[in-house]
Amino acid sequence: MFKIIDGKKISTEIKDELKAEVEALKAKGIIPSLAVILVGDDPASAVYVRNKKKACEYCGIRSLSYELPASTSEEELLDLIEKLNSDDDVNGILVQLPLPGHINEKKVTDAIIPSKDVDGFHPQNVGALLIGSRGFVSCTPAGIIELLKRSGVDISGKECVVVGRSNIVGKPMGVLLLRENGTVTIAHSRTKDLKEVCKRADILIAAIGKPKFFDAEYVKDGAVVIDVGMDRDENGKLCGDVDFESVKEKASMLTPVPGGVGPMTIAMLMNNVVESVRSLS
Ligand code: GUN
Repeated sequence: MFKIIDGKKISTEIKDELKAEVEALKAKGIIPSLAVILVGDDPASAVYVRNKKKACEYCGIRSLSYELPASTSEEELLDLIEKLNSDDDVNGILVQLPLPGHINEKKVTDAIIPSKDVDGFHPQNVGALLIGSRGFVSCTPAGIIELLKRSGVDISGKECVVVGRSNIVGKPMGVLLLRENGTVTIAHSRTKDLKEVCKRADILIAAIGKPKFFDAEYVKDGAVVIDVGMDRDENGKLCGDVDFESVKEKASMLTPVPGGVGPMTIAMLMNNVVESVRSLS
């Protein structure tokens, strides 16, 4: 039987759990707080940042907003990060990407102290994930693991195919699935016979950023399909990397876009902010 995985509902459950945890922390005098930095006026980034601040409000997390003009220099941004790194009242720091072209993104994400790097982008956190030690995990792949677990999908021993090898999604996704004892393949633009590789998957993660690329021909009967895409179709309508109408005839479970992975990313960001203060209580 086919089931739509409701990311919005599951993300609300997680945020409700965090809300209760934040209330308990506040009773002990601990207020989790997230600094959100937005540089420039990219409209998509402005929406993401607004949603992150709304989620903070929902969970009772304090959010500090820094909205800087596109003309901000790299040095000014690094100075702000340095100030927030040493501010004990700030638990998490998030710099919304992409940054304007004159700012080196790697230099900026590397400047965030790993203990406040709630995006999980710092090399120290990425390395910790790889060797299985404590650290912040990138929110989108962490959210996908949570989606699978809360939907009753057992990852252990399963053929997992991740399509896409970005540092934010594909690579950490592969490592997390491996940690759950999945048998993992990371496929990408140079993969030969992509269709055949995808058809092996019990769990297929689509993260290539091409609208409706994956149709039923890429999917094994009964597979669980997770759509990470945030694309626009030919009419400018938001859609994912998966052709939903085609794949729903084949998959046993499928995430929609919107309402699948997107809300989970934000819920896991909230979880990382709370995680940054858990050790203090
Ligand atoms: N831009 C697109 N996705 C993300 C994300 O997960 N974190 C940050 N900081 N910027 C992004």
